[in-house]
Amino acid sequence: MKENPVILGIESSCDETSAALIRGRQLLSNVIFSSATEQAKYGGVVPEIASRAHTEAVDEAVKQAIAEAGVTVNQIDAVAVTYGAGLLGALLVGLSFAKSFAYALKVPLIAVNHIRGHLSVSYLADENLKPPYITLLASGGHTAVIHVKSYTEFEVLCSTTDDAAGEAFDKVARILGLPYPGGPNVQRLAQSGKAEIKLPSPLVRGTQFSYSGLKTAVINYCHNAEQKGETLKREDVAASFQKTAILPLVNKTVESALALGVKTVTAGGGVAANDFLRNSLASECEKTGIKLILPEKKFCTDNAAMIAAEGLVQYNAGNFADMSLNACAQIPLK
Ligand code: KG4
Ligand code: ZN
Repeated sequence: MKENPVILGIESSCDETSAALIRGRQLLSNVIFSSATEQAKYGGVVPEIASRAHTEAVDEAVKQAIAEAGVTVNQIDAVAVTYGAGLLGALLVGLSFAKSFAYALKVPLIAVNHIRGHLSVSYLADENLKPPYITLLASGGHTAVIHVKSYTEFEVLCSTTDDAAGEAFDKVARILGLPYPGGPNVQRLAQSGKAEIKLPSPLVRGTQFSYSGLKTAVINYCHNAEQKGETLKREDVAASFQKTAILPLVNKTVESALALGVKTVTAGGGVAANDFLRNSLASECEKTGIKLILPEKKFCTDNAAMIAAEGLVQYNAGNFADMSLNACAQIPLK
C-alpha cells in the first residue's frame, strides 16, 4: 500500500453528481454537477430525476476531475464510492460506474458511508487533524455530536430522535414559501430578521435532539398570525428558527469537548455551511480555547472530495470492497 495514494472519489447519493481526486490528504480536483435547479421545480428531490441526471453526468464529472487533477488514469490507486445512505437509484449510478472503473484499472474498490464522508472531509481541511476530536454532523438526513476516538471508532454522544436539522430547515423554508434547497434560503431571509420569537429548543433533556417540535411550533406560529390577520414577518420567523435550531448544536458540541477534555472540534454536513452556525461555533471555540477545524462551505454540502477523504481512511485501514458491493438506502454511522 502506498503512503499517499491517488484516490478517485465518486458521489451520487442525492442530487449532486460529483467526482474528485486526492493524493494523500492533498485535494487535486472536485467537480460537482447538481440537479438542484431541476429539482426545485418540484419543491424537493424527485428520485427518478436524480437518477437520470446522475446517468447523464457521471462520465463527464469523472473525466473533468481527472483532467483538472493533472493525473493519468493509470496513476489512480483506488476508487472510492458512496454505497449508502441515499436514494437507491441514484446510488446505483455512481456505484456501477465506480465498479467498472476500478475493474478496468485493476485497482481496489472502496465502499464509502456517505455520513462518514461528511466527517472525514475535515482531514483535507487540516492535514494535521487526527483523532481524538468532537465533530458536529448536521445534514439533511443526520444530526449528531460524535466523539471520533480513532480514524475508525466513533461514539455518538447526542443525536436526533426524529427530523434532522437540515430537514427542519427545508420544512421551515416550505412553510415560509421559500424554494428548495431550503437551508441557504432560510439563512438569506434570516439576515434581515430579528431572532426574537420564542420557539422550543430542539435539545431535549440535554441528551437528545428533536426537531419535529420546533418545526410544528413554527407552523403554529405562522397559522396563528394568519388567523389573527397579522402580517407575518417572515424574516423574523427565519431568524428566530435559525437561532433556535443552531445554538443547541453549537453548545452541545463545545460542552462535549470540554467535558471529555478533547481539544479539537470539527463540523460537517450541509447545515455546517450555515454562516450563523460557523460564526457561533468559531466564537464558542475561541472563548473556550478549543481548536476548530471547519471545512470550506462547498465541502460541507455533498461533494466527492469527502468520499475520497473517507476512502483514504478506509484504504489506510485495509478495508476494500469487491464486485458484490450493493447500494444501501440506510446505513448506520458505525
Ligand atoms: O450534507 P447535505 O448536502 O446532504 C445530505 O447528506 O443530507 O445537506 C443538505 C442539507 C439540506 O437540508 C439543506 O437545506 C441544508 O443541508 N443546508 C443548510 C445550508 N446549506 C445547506 N442549512 C442551513 N443553512 C445553510 N446555509
Ligand atoms: Zn450529505
